[in-house]
Amino acid sequence: MARLSTHVVGLDIGTTKVCVLIAEPREGGAIDVVGCGSAPSRGMRKGVVVNLDACVASIKQAIEEAELMAGAAVEKAWVGVAGPHVRGLNSRGVVAVSGRDHEVSREDVQRVLSAARAVNIPPDREIFHVLPQEYMVDDQDGIHDPVGMTGAKLQANVHIVTASVSAAQNLVNSVNRAGVEVEAMVLEQLAAADAVLSADEKEMGTALIDIGGGTTDLVVFERGAIRHLAVLPTGGEHVTNDIAVGLRTPIPEAERIKKKHGCALASLVDDEETIEVPSVGGRKARLLSRQILSEIIQPRVEEIFSLIAEELARSAFDRSIHAGVVLTGGGAMLEGIQEIAEDALDVPVRRAAPIDLGGLADSVSTPAHSTVVGLALYGARQRARPPVRPAYPSLFFRVSDAVRTWFGELF
Ligand SMILES: Nc1ncnc2c1ncn2[C@@H]1O[C@H](COP(=O)(O)OP(=O)(O)OP(=O)(O)O)[C@@H](O)[C@H]1O
Ligand SMILES: [Mg+2]
Repeated sequence: MARLSTHVVGLDIGTTKVCVLIAEPREGGAIDVVGCGSAPSRGMRKGVVVNLDACVASIKQAIEEAELMAGAAVEKAWVGVAGPHVRGLNSRGVVAVSGRDHEVSREDVQRVLSAARAVNIPPDREIFHVLPQEYMVDDQDGIHDPVGMTGAKLQANVHIVTASVSAAQNLVNSVNRAGVEVEAMVLEQLAAADAVLSADEKEMGTALIDIGGGTTDLVVFERGAIRHLAVLPTGGEHVTNDIAVGLRTPIPEAERIKKKHGCALASLVDDEETIEVPSVGGRKARLLSRQILSEIIQPRVEEIFSLIAEELARSAFDRSIHAGVVLTGGGAMLEGIQEIAEDALDVPVRRAAPIDLGGLADSVSTPAHSTVVGLALYGARQRARPPVRPAYPSLFFRVSDAVRTWFGELF
């Protein structure tokens, strides 16, 4: 098979599906899709590997499908990292501008970012993104790129993302054992935001909510940068479980019924509508009203959004989301979910899938593919940038080379 050195590959190892996207970078940071593969995810729980062999098999299956479509072999991938072990915190650093002419240089920027990342992290966690929010040169704030500006003092506000070392290492091991190198690990929320949020939304203030199978990920953007992150340990699988219990039907049937007939808002459903529900243990299928299905789904979806509302209020970012909320992830495909979200969060809500893709875009233009598309987009953009060496590489020598490549993402 031909090699894929010019292509970028996104690999999203989710709780319900493993998804691979092979893309060709275009001018201006866009991508053309040349291959995509998906396989049911086994061996993952809430974004974390719990069975390595099963996870490796799922990754291999998804990669083979994508390779077949692209007609070329995958060697490296940009891999998403997610799950309740991922945390974010805001930090700041201050340094004196070093040059005699007091002009801020690239080295000053690296030094101030290194100062900002000097926070106490427990030994079982690693920093894997230091995302600049804005810089201050003396008293001038709100600066995006301070290089070339004149002043005595440079300050950086950053968002630091940390993850469990063992969870990340297990992910890297699974990918390696599937025969693929990890080009870098990328926060899934950051990737999904690249695929679905506009620059205006990131600037004005938006909460992006990715409703997956096992988790619901929240990220708040304001003034062009990440301000807050949270992962709720609940998602579409919980809705399916409620349906299975409520309708006394097997889980795969509950999943099928949810996707085909599910509606998160009971008042949107005509009370005359009926659905056929298979029973467990070989009993006869039953006819039930679709309204009953909605009444099972609605409380769980309301619970997810009330947890999000609490999280936004606790962090005080509920006042920052002037452009509203964007829903994505497979769970966002549920009918009526937008209405529930608008009611719970009291802001405008839109549902989003990746846009502006070239090539075989149809296969990945759904909310469930936002993360994998974002990973490829992120990879394409990073490739186009000149590499920057880390200021303190020694901090990373405990973990494998692949995890260490996180450092390439720092600045
Ligand atoms: N049409 C649909 N209607 C309702 N729910 C859907 C639909 N399509 C997919 N889902 C739900 O979306 C969830 C999977 O979403 P997604 O593919 O984004 O998850 P994942 O990335 O595998 O998981 P996670 O992000 O939690 O690790 C499942 O619970 C599935 O039932
Ligand atoms: Mg996901």
